[in-house]
Amino acid sequence: KEYVVGVDLGGTKILTAVADLEGNILARVRKDTEAKKGKEVVIQKIKDTVYEAVQEVGIELSQVKGIGLGVPGPVDIKKGIIKHTPNLDLDNINIVEELRELDTPIFLENDANAAALGEKWFGAGKEAENMVYMTVSTGIGGGIIINKEIFHGAGDAAGEIGHMTILPDSKLQCGCGNYGCWEAIASGTALSKLGKEAVESGKDTLMSDLVADSTKVNGAVVAKAAEQGDKVAKEIMDKIAGYLGIGMANLINIFNPDTIVIGGGVSQSWGLIEDKVNSTIQARAMDSLVEDVDVVIAELGSDVGVLGAVATALAELDLF
Ligand code: BGC
Ligand code: NA
Ligand code: ZN
Repeated sequence: KEYVVGVDLGGTKILTAVADLEGNILARVRKDTEAKKGKEVVIQKIKDTVYEAVQEVGIELSQVKGIGLGVPGPVDIKKGIIKHTPNLDLDNINIVEELRELDTPIFLENDANAAALGEKWFGAGKEAENMVYMTVSTGIGGGIIINKEIFHGAGDAAGEIGHMTILPDSKLQCGCGNYGCWEAIASGTALSKLGKEAVESGKDTLMSDLVADSTKVNGAVVAKAAEQGDKVAKEIMDKIAGYLGIGMANLINIFNPDTIVIGGGVSQSWGLIEDKVNSTIQARAMDSLVEDVDVVIAELGSDVGVLGAVATALAELDLF
């Protein structure tokens, strides 16, 4: 029997899965990325997750026809190079070369592009023809599907939606170097930053009771406090929702998508931001284009990245 492997290389964890040719996951292995320990450590961990996942299914690596690898930044697909990772220190790695020991074809893809393919094939985008996938977590990533296919652009890097400037006068610097990027002001990172600032400034907020000290405030804490009716946390969620809506309105005007699929940590708090996101889209995007689009939440949950990597391998091998 034949199989494929998907690797989701993230800022905090590496999630690797073995799947059959229908995309059913048979085993998952997870390790902390720990990029601060250096590139070699991360590369070794990727290999280890593959070996361990294959072992868990009880198959040989030679039965794996290809490995899809999703990474959080622009990639050169043909050369097999990770060009730049704004939130991780893994720039300029020829990852295909580094993983040669696995003796299996490696198919490199941007994480959000891979996830877009995953949702298109296995999730919320099955019916979509023109779709934008967006992930809002550490960063903001995008996968643009035009006529059912990923749009790659001139250098494989199309869809870097997180780095469009939304606030030109912002003092918030992005991992890419620019100021006021969508991801710098509306990602999970931005959410936790605003939460931390609120707690540190001594504001009367439930967030202070939910954590031992301000360093423990993250997006989930802000969301939890907002859910429990905390005014300060709700204001923060509202601000982020407004920024998300502005970026989405821009995407709607540019791509006229039939579907926008939202994944990543923030999609777990969709109920808290949905109204504000939608009203902002209504206010900012052109009416006739708003009518065409369904905004939906990703269906694949925490498997979206890894199933996207699986889908990437299957697509490249013409196995699907
Ligand atoms: C990167 C994207 C990536 C996104 C989500 C952004 O900072 O530029 O390539 O898709 O984060 O990981
Ligand atoms: Na992308
Ligand atoms: Zn940026």
